[in-house]
Amino acid sequence: MKGTQIAIDGPAGAGKSTIAKLIAKNLNYIYIDTGAMYRAITLKALNLGIDMHDERLFEFMKKTTFAFVNGKLFMDDIDVSHEIRETKVSNNVSLVSSYFTVRKELVAKQQEMARNHDVVMDGRDIGYKVLPDADFKFFLTASIKKRAERRHLDNLERGIESDIFVIEIEIERRDYLDTTRIHSPLKAAADAVMVDTSDLNIEQVVELITQRVREEDKHGF
Ligand code: DC
Repeated sequence: MKGTQIAIDGPAGAGKSTIAKLIAKNLNYIYIDTGAMYRAITLKALNLGIDMHDERLFEFMKKTTFAFVNGKLFMDDIDVSHEIRETKVSNNVSLVSSYFTVRKELVAKQQEMARNHDVVMDGRDIGYKVLPDADFKFFLTASIKKRAERRHLDNLERGIESDIFVIEIEIERRDYLDTTRIHSPLKAAADAVMVDTSDLNIEQVVELITQRVREEDKHGF
């Protein structure tokens, strides 16, 4: 039986992953962080020392396995949750996620993970590509300044060195690359609910989305 699917898309730093994680916890759904999967493939490519500009060398990912366990991402049975947040990964992930070979494999894996489960999945192409039939679709946005501020605090919390001005430039660059790439660019599904989180705190956004899902569920769809 198909579970309930919640798709959450939006640019880097809009608060997607923190929010999606809390919604999954509130509703007792499985949380799937698709950005973490693109980051993990980027990390693997860097560790293999392959030419990052040669898409043909990414065939290795067909044999790569992923599992989310207790909020941690395991790639090939190794916990990579911390390493995938490093700057070298952030700086290369837009390139890697622009490759058709990479997207085709990861989208198939994500669809498989969501099959027959209640899930909250966040990313850039979930509402219109990975789960086009999702029961709920949200697109989170926020000003670049606010997003940079949040990423900066996030880095400090994780013990990663951070410069807010550098982050602002990186976010702008990543937005540009993510929205203009040929394969599955960052964009809202036509039927997504738009939520500007600039002036809302995490709890307010979580509450807004959770309420909406509970309301609809009550009316029995
Ligand atoms: O959400 P994040 O910043 O961890 O995502 C890392 C990168 O992965 C981001 O530059 C865009 C890409 N990505 C994507 O192309 N498609 C997704 N569904 C999720 C992330």
